[in-house]
Amino acid sequence: DLTPKPQDRFAFGLWTIGWRADDPFGAPTRERLDPVEAVNGLAEIGAYGITFHDDDLIPFGTPAAERTAIIERFRKALAETGLVVPTATTNLFGHPVFKDGALTAKDRDVRRFALRKVARNIDLAAELGAQTYVFWGGREGSEAEAAYDPTAALERYREGLNALTHYVKEQGYQLRFAVEPKPNEPRGDILLPTIGHALAFIQTLDHPDMVGVNPEVGHEQMAGLNAVHGYAQALWQGKLFHIDLNGQHGPRYDQDLVFGHGDLINAFFLVDLLENGGYDGPRHFDYKPLRTEDKAGVWESARANMRTYLVLRERARQFREDPEVAEARKAARLDQLSVPTLDTGETVTGVLSEELDVDEAAERGAANARLQQLAVEHLMGAR
Ligand code: GCO
Ligand code: MN
Ligand code: MN
Ligand code: MN
Repeated sequence: DLTPKPQDRFAFGLWTIGWRADDPFGAPTRERLDPVEAVNGLAEIGAYGITFHDDDLIPFGTPAAERTAIIERFRKALAETGLVVPTATTNLFGHPVFKDGALTAKDRDVRRFALRKVARNIDLAAELGAQTYVFWGGREGSEAEAAYDPTAALERYREGLNALTHYVKEQGYQLRFAVEPKPNEPRGDILLPTIGHALAFIQTLDHPDMVGVNPEVGHEQMAGLNAVHGYAQALWQGKLFHIDLNGQHGPRYDQDLVFGHGDLINAFFLVDLLENGGYDGPRHFDYKPLRTEDKAGVWESARANMRTYLVLRERARQFREDPEVAEARKAARLDQLSVPTLDTGETVTGVLSEELDVDEAAERGAANARLQQLAVEHLMGAR
């Protein structure tokens, strides 16, 4: 069934469908989308969740009374539609005050302001029932090596995230953090550029159990990496707390295309991984409707993300159920990879006296090509 339903747990950032399509070369091509209209529209197309940066919902600098009114109106729309807020995040990149970083800015007062901005929105996220809080350090980085100290910046990033995990615990919130890696853009080089960097960094924190990753398909591909492998490692390490799904054509600017509108083969295997690898979080889209689109095109593209996911889910299911695939997997000896190399209790001593006919072993074909083609044919709907 290709109709998106709330139990599919599709979620969208308010900044995705709400993007006004201003880019470095041109002015916005669309009007601001009212957050309540966004909630209603998402509920209508079968999504279950909406996520936001503080400033998406409450424009920067909004006076307190107005802020309260905006939140109440938003909350009412959520209650009326049943849409949830699984995740929230902070805009630590838009305002010029963050031009040289936020939690890792050289200016200490800017860092303290950033902490305050995050804490305030964490309060709101907890109030709205969010389970995950995302950290994307878009401005944590540099262009000028001489004017940067990556070691000190990492130390400040660690200090900031540690302080915020302490805050969450003090307040008794149930939130977990998810760090979102990206190699570059808007900074020339961003701190924690890939899933691997983020996973290693997380282990240095005071509460590593509270912190996982929020990888984005396109960001790994911008770094020339295989997104499926990165998501798989995060999942394997129990760190895939949240995901951003979208499309990208290899290393170039961040395209934020509709999911599947970039590397479709990688998207197919990613859906297969998420569906069969034990990921149980929201299927969250972080894409940008093309700048060419009007309002109707925006909603068309939002539906496209979910439809692509559902088609790929169905194709992946058929792929796994195909007896020919089962046979090809056996021929490719894929099942053998799950067998431990040593017997239980055995040590390396156990292999010392063994002999392998290396010529015979080297001659065996891996039979990978046929299996890959079967997958591609399932993906194309040719089987
Ligand atoms: C990007 C990033 C951002 C973040 C979002 C959450 O495309 O550069 O994905 O969109 O995900 O801002 O903080
Ligand atoms: Mn992106
Ligand atoms: Mn993202
Ligand atoms: Mn994005």
